[in-house]
Amino acid sequence: MEKQLKNKVCVVTGSARSIGLAIAEMYCRHGAKVAMMDILPEVLEQAEKLAGEGYPVKGYTCDITNQEVVMKCFKSIEADFGDIYTLVNTAGAVDQQSIDEITPEHLNRMMNINVNGTVYCSQGALKSMKKLDNGRIINFASKSGKTGSALMGSYSAAKGAVISLTHAMAFELAENNIKVNCLCPGIVDDSGVWDSVSKGYIENMDMSRDEVIKNFTAKIPLKRLCYKQDIVAWCEFLTIHGDYNTGQAFNVSGGREVH
Ligand SMILES: NC(=O)c1ccc[n+]([C@@H]2O[C@H](COP(=O)([O-])OP(=O)(O)OC[C@H]3O[C@@H](n4cnc5c(N)ncnc54)[C@H](O)[C@@H]3O)[C@@H](O)[C@H]2O)c1
Repeated sequence: MEKQLKNKVCVVTGSARSIGLAIAEMYCRHGAKVAMMDILPEVLEQAEKLAGEGYPVKGYTCDITNQEVVMKCFKSIEADFGDIYTLVNTAGAVDQQSIDEITPEHLNRMMNINVNGTVYCSQGALKSMKKLDNGRIINFASKSGKTGSALMGSYSAAKGAVISLTHAMAFELAENNIKVNCLCPGIVDDSGVWDSVSKGYIENMDMSRDEVIKNFTAKIPLKRLCYKQDIVAWCEFLTIHGDYNTGQAFNVSGGREVH
Protein backbone atom coordinates (compact mmCIF):
# COMPACT_ATOMS: atom_id res chain seq x y z
CA MET A 1 0.00 0.00 0.00
CA GLU A 2 1.21 3.49 -0.86
CA LYS A 3 2.09 5.28 2.37
CA GLN A 4 0.01 8.38 1.77
CA LEU A 5 -0.12 9.38 5.42
CA LYS A 6 3.52 8.55 6.13
CA ASN A 7 4.54 10.19 9.43
CA LYS A 8 1.33 12.23 9.68
CA VAL A 9 -0.09 12.18 13.20
CA CYS A 10 -3.56 10.67 13.42
CA VAL A 11 -5.49 10.53 16.71
CA VAL A 12 -8.38 8.11 17.09
CA THR A 13 -10.57 8.28 20.20
CA GLY A 14 -12.56 5.24 21.30
CA SER A 15 -9.96 2.95 19.73
CA ALA A 16 -9.71 0.26 22.41
CA ARG A 17 -12.15 -1.82 20.34
CA SER A 18 -14.65 -2.03 17.55
CA ILE A 19 -14.92 0.78 14.96
CA GLY A 20 -12.23 2.99 16.53
CA LEU A 21 -9.73 0.13 16.59
CA ALA A 22 -10.41 -0.68 12.92
CA ILE A 23 -9.80 3.00 12.02
CA ALA A 24 -6.53 3.09 14.00
CA GLU A 25 -5.35 -0.08 12.21
CA MET A 26 -6.10 1.52 8.83
CA TYR A 27 -4.00 4.62 9.71
CA CYS A 28 -1.17 2.30 10.79
CA ARG A 29 -1.25 0.56 7.39
CA HIS A 30 -0.95 3.99 5.74
CA GLY A 31 2.28 4.71 7.62
CA ALA A 32 0.83 7.32 9.99
CA LYS A 33 1.96 7.90 13.56
CA VAL A 34 -1.13 6.80 15.45
CA ALA A 35 -2.32 7.93 18.89
CA MET A 36 -5.03 5.65 20.26
CA MET A 37 -7.18 7.15 23.04
CA ASP A 38 -9.79 5.45 25.19
CA ILE A 39 -11.10 5.39 28.73
CA LEU A 40 -10.50 1.62 28.76
CA PRO A 41 -6.99 0.44 29.67
CA GLU A 42 -7.34 -2.18 26.89
CA VAL A 43 -6.31 0.61 24.52
CA LEU A 44 -2.75 0.24 25.83
CA GLU A 45 -2.68 -3.48 24.98
CA GLN A 46 -4.16 -2.87 21.52
CA ALA A 47 -1.55 -0.18 20.84
CA GLU A 48 1.27 -2.40 22.11
CA LYS A 49 0.08 -5.19 19.81
CA LEU A 50 0.25 -2.86 16.79
CA ALA A 51 3.57 -1.40 17.92
CA GLY A 52 4.84 -5.00 18.11
CA GLU A 53 4.02 -5.32 14.40
CA GLY A 54 6.35 -2.38 13.76
CA TYR A 55 3.88 0.50 13.53
CA PRO A 56 4.59 3.85 15.26
CA VAL A 57 1.60 3.79 17.57
CA LYS A 58 0.94 4.59 21.23
CA GLY A 59 -2.06 4.16 23.52
CA TYR A 60 -3.36 6.82 25.92
CA THR A 61 -5.98 6.25 28.61
CA CYS A 62 -8.15 9.33 28.83
CA ASP A 63 -11.71 10.19 29.83
CA ILE A 64 -12.85 12.50 27.05
CA THR A 65 -15.55 14.04 29.28
CA ASN A 66 -12.89 15.75 31.42
CA GLN A 67 -11.60 18.81 29.58
CA GLU A 68 -8.48 19.23 31.71
CA VAL A 69 -7.48 15.57 31.32
CA VAL A 70 -8.11 15.75 27.56
CA MET A 71 -5.87 18.82 27.18
CA LYS A 72 -3.06 17.07 29.06
CA CYS A 73 -3.46 13.98 26.89
CA PHE A 74 -3.16 15.99 23.67
CA LYS A 75 -0.04 17.73 25.01
CA SER A 76 1.51 14.27 25.59
CA ILE A 77 0.54 13.17 22.08
CA GLU A 78 2.19 16.28 20.58
CA ALA A 79 5.30 15.70 22.70
CA ASP A 80 5.48 12.05 21.60
CA PHE A 81 4.64 12.41 17.91
CA GLY A 82 4.54 16.10 16.84
CA ASP A 83 1.72 18.16 15.33
CA ILE A 84 -1.61 16.44 14.83
CA TYR A 85 -3.04 16.26 11.30
CA THR A 86 -6.17 14.12 11.83
CA LEU A 87 -8.55 13.60 14.71
CA VAL A 88 -11.27 10.97 14.54
CA ASN A 89 -13.80 11.44 17.34
CA THR A 90 -15.04 7.85 17.41
CA ALA A 91 -15.55 7.57 21.19
CA GLY A 92 -19.24 7.54 21.98
CA ALA A 93 -21.90 5.72 23.91
CA VAL A 94 -25.51 4.68 23.39
CA ASP A 95 -28.47 4.48 25.75
CA GLN A 96 -31.97 3.08 25.47
CA GLN A 97 -35.10 4.02 27.36
CA SER A 98 -38.57 5.39 26.63
CA ILE A 99 -39.02 9.17 26.67
CA ASP A 100 -40.84 9.08 30.02
CA GLU A 101 -38.00 7.14 31.61
CA ILE A 102 -35.21 9.55 30.59
CA THR A 103 -33.55 11.10 33.65
CA PRO A 104 -31.19 14.09 33.86
CA GLU A 105 -28.39 11.55 34.42
CA HIS A 106 -29.23 9.76 31.14
CA LEU A 107 -29.24 13.05 29.21
CA ASN A 108 -26.07 14.35 30.83
CA ARG A 109 -24.20 11.11 30.14
CA MET A 110 -25.18 11.06 26.46
CA MET A 111 -24.29 14.74 26.00
CA ASN A 112 -21.05 14.48 28.00
CA ILE A 113 -19.61 11.56 26.06
CA ASN A 114 -20.96 12.18 22.56
CA VAL A 115 -20.97 15.99 22.39
CA ASN A 116 -18.75 17.47 25.11
CA GLY A 117 -16.06 14.82 24.52
CA THR A 118 -16.04 15.67 20.81
CA VAL A 119 -15.64 19.37 21.60
CA TYR A 120 -12.82 18.82 24.13
CA CYS A 121 -10.82 16.48 21.87
CA SER A 122 -11.21 18.89 18.95
CA GLN A 123 -9.94 21.71 21.20
CA GLY A 124 -6.99 19.50 22.10
CA ALA A 125 -6.05 18.96 18.44
CA LEU A 126 -6.70 22.47 17.14
CA LYS A 127 -3.46 24.11 18.26
CA SER A 128 -1.50 21.66 16.08
CA MET A 129 -3.85 21.88 13.13
CA LYS A 130 -3.88 25.68 13.15
CA LYS A 131 -0.08 25.67 13.26
CA LEU A 132 0.00 23.31 10.27
CA ASP A 133 -2.74 25.36 8.57
CA ASN A 134 -4.09 21.95 7.64
CA GLY A 135 -6.14 19.27 9.33
CA ARG A 136 -9.01 16.83 9.25
CA ILE A 137 -11.59 16.20 11.94
CA ILE A 138 -14.07 13.35 11.56
CA ASN A 139 -16.88 13.29 14.11
CA PHE A 140 -19.20 10.40 14.80
CA ALA A 141 -22.92 11.08 14.62
CA SER A 142 -25.42 8.38 13.65
CA LYS A 143 -28.39 7.69 11.45
CA SER A 144 -30.31 8.34 14.72
CA GLY A 145 -28.92 11.88 14.73
CA LYS A 146 -30.79 12.61 11.49
CA THR A 147 -33.91 10.47 11.88
CA GLY A 148 -34.26 9.81 15.60
CA SER A 149 -34.79 6.24 16.79
CA ALA A 150 -37.66 5.16 19.06
CA LEU A 151 -36.51 4.34 22.60
CA MET A 152 -33.24 6.13 21.93
CA GLY A 153 -34.26 9.75 22.54
CA SER A 154 -31.23 10.79 24.59
CA TYR A 155 -28.80 9.21 22.10
CA SER A 156 -30.64 10.61 19.07
CA ALA A 157 -30.60 14.12 20.60
CA ALA A 158 -26.86 13.92 21.35
CA LYS A 159 -26.00 12.64 17.85
CA GLY A 160 -28.20 15.37 16.29
CA ALA A 161 -26.10 17.85 18.28
CA VAL A 162 -22.91 16.29 16.86
CA ILE A 163 -24.20 17.05 13.34
CA SER A 164 -24.88 20.73 14.19
CA LEU A 165 -21.53 20.95 15.97
CA THR A 166 -19.86 19.62 12.80
CA HIS A 167 -21.50 22.38 10.73
CA ALA A 168 -20.40 25.06 13.20
CA MET A 169 -16.83 23.76 13.36
CA ALA A 170 -16.59 23.50 9.57
CA PHE A 171 -17.68 27.12 9.06
CA GLU A 172 -15.39 28.38 11.80
CA LEU A 173 -12.29 26.38 10.88
CA ALA A 174 -12.41 26.68 7.08
CA GLU A 175 -10.08 29.70 7.27
CA ASN A 176 -7.50 27.44 8.92
CA ASN A 177 -7.86 24.85 6.14
CA ILE A 178 -9.26 22.36 8.66
CA LYS A 179 -11.97 20.18 7.18
CA VAL A 180 -14.61 18.93 9.59
CA ASN A 181 -17.12 16.28 8.62
CA CYS A 182 -19.13 13.64 10.40
CA LEU A 183 -20.28 10.11 9.65
CA CYS A 184 -23.81 8.89 10.24
CA PRO A 185 -23.64 5.08 10.31
CA GLY A 186 -26.64 2.82 10.44
CA ILE A 187 -26.24 -0.39 12.41
CA VAL A 188 -22.65 -1.61 12.36
CA ASP A 189 -22.24 -5.37 12.65
CA ASP A 190 -19.89 -6.70 15.33
CA SER A 191 -19.67 -3.35 17.16
CA GLY A 192 -20.11 -2.22 20.75
CA VAL A 193 -23.10 0.03 20.06
CA TRP A 194 -24.98 -2.64 18.13
CA ASP A 195 -24.16 -5.20 20.79
CA SER A 196 -25.75 -3.03 23.43
CA VAL A 197 -28.76 -1.98 21.27
CA SER A 198 -29.52 -5.53 20.12
CA LYS A 199 -29.33 -6.75 23.73
CA GLY A 200 -31.93 -4.11 24.60
CA TYR A 201 -34.28 -5.38 21.87
CA ILE A 202 -33.67 -9.04 22.76
CA GLU A 203 -34.57 -8.35 26.40
CA ASN A 204 -37.41 -5.83 25.97
CA MET A 205 -39.14 -7.28 22.92
CA ASP A 206 -38.59 -10.94 23.70
CA MET A 207 -36.92 -11.62 20.34
CA SER A 208 -33.97 -13.84 19.49
CA ARG A 209 -30.79 -12.19 18.21
CA ASP A 210 -31.43 -13.59 14.72
CA GLU A 211 -34.96 -12.14 14.71
CA VAL A 212 -33.66 -8.73 15.76
CA ILE A 213 -31.05 -8.77 12.97
CA LYS A 214 -33.67 -9.92 10.42
CA ASN A 215 -36.06 -7.14 11.51
CA PHE A 216 -33.42 -4.43 11.23
CA THR A 217 -31.95 -5.73 7.98
CA ALA A 218 -35.41 -5.75 6.36
CA LYS A 219 -35.52 -1.94 6.71
CA ILE A 220 -32.18 -1.46 4.91
CA PRO A 221 -32.43 -1.11 1.10
CA LEU A 222 -29.06 -2.85 0.60
CA LYS A 223 -30.24 -5.69 2.87
CA ARG A 224 -27.25 -6.00 5.13
CA LEU A 225 -25.86 -4.37 8.23
CA CYS A 226 -22.95 -1.95 7.88
CA TYR A 227 -19.46 -3.48 8.19
CA LYS A 228 -16.68 -1.72 10.09
CA GLN A 229 -14.81 -1.65 6.79
CA ASP A 230 -17.55 0.56 5.28
CA ILE A 231 -16.82 3.15 7.98
CA VAL A 232 -13.05 2.75 7.73
CA ALA A 233 -13.26 3.44 3.97
CA TRP A 234 -14.94 6.80 4.65
CA CYS A 235 -12.25 7.79 7.16
CA GLU A 236 -9.60 6.80 4.66
CA PHE A 237 -11.25 8.88 1.92
CA LEU A 238 -11.84 11.94 4.10
CA THR A 239 -8.28 11.90 5.43
CA ILE A 240 -6.36 11.17 2.22
CA HIS A 241 -8.66 12.74 -0.35
CA GLY A 242 -11.82 14.68 0.50
CA ASP A 243 -10.01 17.97 0.07
CA TYR A 244 -13.19 19.73 -1.07
CA ASN A 245 -15.47 18.34 1.65
CA THR A 246 -16.28 20.12 4.87
CA GLY A 247 -19.38 20.47 7.05
CA GLN A 248 -20.95 17.29 5.69
CA ALA A 249 -22.80 14.54 7.52
CA PHE A 250 -22.26 11.44 5.38
CA ASN A 251 -24.72 8.56 5.67
CA VAL A 252 -23.21 5.09 5.83
CA SER A 253 -26.46 3.23 6.18
CA GLY A 254 -27.04 1.05 3.11
CA GLY A 255 -29.65 3.52 1.85
CA ARG A 256 -31.69 3.56 5.09
CA GLU A 257 -31.06 7.29 5.59
CA VAL A 258 -31.27 9.43 2.49
CA HIS A 259 -31.05 13.05 3.75
N1 LIG B 1 -21.99 0.60 16.08
C1 LIG B 1 -23.03 1.16 15.52
O1 LIG B 1 -23.98 0.50 15.09
C2 LIG B 1 -23.07 2.67 15.40
C3 LIG B 1 -24.07 3.26 14.66
C4 LIG B 1 -24.10 4.65 14.56
C5 LIG B 1 -23.13 5.41 15.19
N2 LIG B 1 -22.17 4.80 15.91
C6 LIG B 1 -21.15 5.62 16.58
O2 LIG B 1 -19.87 5.16 16.21
C7 LIG B 1 -18.96 5.32 17.28
C8 LIG B 1 -18.26 4.00 17.60
O3 LIG B 1 -19.24 3.00 17.87
P1 LIG B 1 -18.84 1.55 18.39
O4 LIG B 1 -19.98 0.65 18.10
O5 LIG B 1 -17.48 1.22 17.90
O6 LIG B 1 -18.81 1.83 19.96
P2 LIG B 1 -18.08 1.00 21.12
O7 LIG B 1 -18.93 1.17 22.33
O8 LIG B 1 -17.72 -0.36 20.70
O9 LIG B 1 -16.74 1.82 21.29
C9 LIG B 1 -16.75 3.12 21.78
C10 LIG B 1 -15.44 3.36 22.48
O10 LIG B 1 -15.50 4.66 23.09
C11 LIG B 1 -14.91 4.55 24.36
N3 LIG B 1 -15.43 5.58 25.28
C12 LIG B 1 -16.67 5.66 25.81
N4 LIG B 1 -16.72 6.66 26.69
C13 LIG B 1 -15.49 7.23 26.72
C14 LIG B 1 -14.92 8.30 27.45
N5 LIG B 1 -15.63 8.99 28.35
N6 LIG B 1 -13.63 8.61 27.23
C15 LIG B 1 -12.88 7.90 26.33
N7 LIG B 1 -13.37 6.87 25.63
C16 LIG B 1 -14.66 6.53 25.83
C17 LIG B 1 -15.32 3.16 24.86
O11 LIG B 1 -14.50 2.71 25.93
C18 LIG B 1 -15.17 2.33 23.59
O12 LIG B 1 -13.89 1.75 23.47
C19 LIG B 1 -19.77 5.87 18.45
O13 LIG B 1 -19.65 7.26 18.51
C20 LIG B 1 -21.18 5.46 18.08
O14 LIG B 1 -22.16 6.27 18.69
C21 LIG B 1 -22.10 3.44 16.03
